[in-house]
Amino acid sequence: MTTATTATTAPTTTAITDIAGLVTNDPSLGEGPLGLIRDAAVVIDGDRIAWVGESSKAPATDNRVDAGGRAAIPGFVDSHSHLVFAGDRTEEFNARMSGRPYSAGGIRTTVAATRAASNNVLHANVGRYVAEARRQGTTTVEIKSGYGLTSQDEARALTIAGAHTDEVTFLGAHIVAPEFADDPAAYVDLVTGPMLDACAPYARWIDVFCEQGAFDGDQARTILTAGKERGLIPRVHANQLSYGPGVQLAVELGAASADHCTHLTDADVDALAQGETVATLLPGAEFSTRSTYPDARRLLDAGATVALSPDCNPGSSFTSSMPFCVALAVREMGMTPDEAVWAATAGGARALHRTDVGRVSPGARADLVLLDAPSHVHLAYRPGVPLVSAVWHNGTLI
Ligand code: NIG
Ligand code: FE
Repeated sequence: MTTATTATTAPTTTAITDIAGLVTNDPSLGEGPLGLIRDAAVVIDGDRIAWVGESSKAPATDNRVDAGGRAAIPGFVDSHSHLVFAGDRTEEFNARMSGRPYSAGGIRTTVAATRAASNNVLHANVGRYVAEARRQGTTTVEIKSGYGLTSQDEARALTIAGAHTDEVTFLGAHIVAPEFADDPAAYVDLVTGPMLDACAPYARWIDVFCEQGAFDGDQARTILTAGKERGLIPRVHANQLSYGPGVQLAVELGAASADHCTHLTDADVDALAQGETVATLLPGAEFSTRSTYPDARRLLDAGATVALSPDCNPGSSFTSSMPFCVALAVREMGMTPDEAVWAATAGGARALHRTDVGRVSPGARADLVLLDAPSHVHLAYRPGVPLVSAVWHNGTLI
């Protein structure tokens, strides 16, 4: 990639030219569902995409970047992460790789470490993982609370998350807090009462881990409904470790997303296909817990909308890498490379109800990734290779 500045004052417009294949995710602009344009250029004006089209027709700009025949895609949209945490669970992972099963109980280890951590430590951790994700092409990230589990610690987690992203999710119902182990109903009362009061001002979304060992369907319904009444939009950790009511509840409540979707009945698949709820698949969790992957092919063939996310968290999936998830989705979940790239960009945007990200078309936020490869297909074809060569976020080259 070579750059040249022709303006003498601060540049406002930049043309990125000689892009071998540009994924726009706008079918009106190019081939197929990805709206692929060959020999393309993109013009960025400030923090927005101003123009896309054939490289030879690019308008004059203050700045010009020669992509040198690389491919370009929209910045990845990660709609599911748990980045506000402290501590380390290497030993748990090590034991799991020696045969011990994954369970929701490991979350308690991180809750203790997170409560004990200072604000500065938590801020630094979130900043480190957001930067790590950005270097791998992620330009939008949702961040959940869920390792505080007191009103004060959950509100603190949301405040810290909000310093790093606009997409903040209240997950006070991650597990029943250890202090309430003998009285889960009292914990649900806390989450839907004082904790919600303390947390709602700092969040856009509300999430529940609906699973054996966490919250059952009735508890999840109570919590999500209380959140909706406070203006939060539901999303659900659903059907991760076992069959259960999570997916149906997500669709019934109009959740933006049902996340994991690993154990689905035909009725669950039908509900996702017919409703507006996105099925967000998190293959890093299956990879890191040696579990069976969700069947993306089945969901796509039924007509469901699928998103991908790394689910970055210290327990079940300690990766921030969307390219890794794209490769897993193609190899292990029956997705085509085009479907996986769409799910990691436009799919994530759908799961966050966003129309300004996940696409490269005029008016969108200028979030663009150049790949050291001639095609986006290389994200799956060359697994584990650091292909992200340049990232623009909000129009700024990072
Ligand atoms: O998405 N499923 C629940 N929450 C996380 C795991 C959290 C943890 O193990 O610390 C997940 O996999
Ligand atoms: Fe999760």
